[in-house]
Amino acid sequence: MSAIEEAANSAAAVSGGASKIEIELDQVEKIFQTDEGDVHAVAKTDINVRQREFVVLLGPSGCGKTTILRMVSGLLKPTSGNVRVAGHELWHGDTRDREAVQEMGIVFQEANLFPWLSIEKNIALPLKLRKQSKAKRLKKAHELCELVGITGFEKRWPRELSGGMRQRAAIARALSYDPEILLMDEPFGALDAMTRDQMNIELQRIWETSGCTIIFVTHSIPEAVFLADRIILLSPRPGRIHSVTNVTFKRSRDMAIQTEPEFQEIVRDLRRQLESM
Ligand SMILES: Nc1ncnc2c1ncn2[C@@H]1O[C@H](COP(=O)(O)OP(=O)(O)OP(=O)(O)O)[C@@H](O)[C@H]1O
Ligand SMILES: [Mg+2]
Repeated sequence: MSAIEEAANSAAAVSGGASKIEIELDQVEKIFQTDEGDVHAVAKTDINVRQREFVVLLGPSGCGKTTILRMVSGLLKPTSGNVRVAGHELWHGDTRDREAVQEMGIVFQEANLFPWLSIEKNIALPLKLRKQSKAKRLKKAHELCELVGITGFEKRWPRELSGGMRQRAAIARALSYDPEILLMDEPFGALDAMTRDQMNIELQRIWETSGCTIIFVTHSIPEAVFLADRIILLSPRPGRIHSVTNVTFKRSRDMAIQTEPEFQEIVRDLRRQLESM
């Protein structure tokens, strides 16, 4: 663990935050082999995320944010280092640990709903794959539509929903099997500013209600400061931790905090850091 990580972790312990580590990246590194040679995407990095923590990864384009998220999710195997999720090693040789992977739900920039399935069937699909009964699946889909605020749209097709609503459905689908961990890669990047603000409020509420741990990737500094307990700023490729910022505004936060001097100071500081990279 780096000194900066250690400081952040002990600070949280002092502040009484849940101290159990949920996700642990231990000297995790990724080098892609391509026809043009090796691409060093992520340098040896340590990241610890505690249970119920909301961690945001911020950094310049191409610095390895998506790569880190894919390594946490088990979609991608690190070149070296270890990933542990809820106490399980994620990889045993070339085999993924089933239990660790089942702890995680993923939401990408595009909702990626299946166009030939209704909203409720999209949301319930992970449960079907887990062989739950139809009645149970639909009940859960209904509850989740309520949670994410799209009640009444259960029978609609994805194309009939707005971008923000499709993204809500994608979040509902990721939550369908009660994952301990939600991994989100610029989930609101394609939305207009107002819808995005609204989704940030909703996501905070969903996170508080569901009690899951979130790693959230964004390019937006205000979005990061609004959502995060902790912001990990990554350096340009190969990505490594540039700085860690604890954000201690009390919850539930509303958009009005964006006008507070302290909020603006954190935004300015992060912008300065990004610009000086
Ligand atoms: N499958 C791959 N094969 C080769 N290189 C890759 C692969 N995936 C990512 N890379 C490279 O690794 C680096 C990190 O990519 P990554 O997608 O993780 O960046 P990012 O921080 O998510 O960027 P953005 O903010 O633009 O989404 C980039 O240089 C990218 O070109
Ligand atoms: Mg990315």
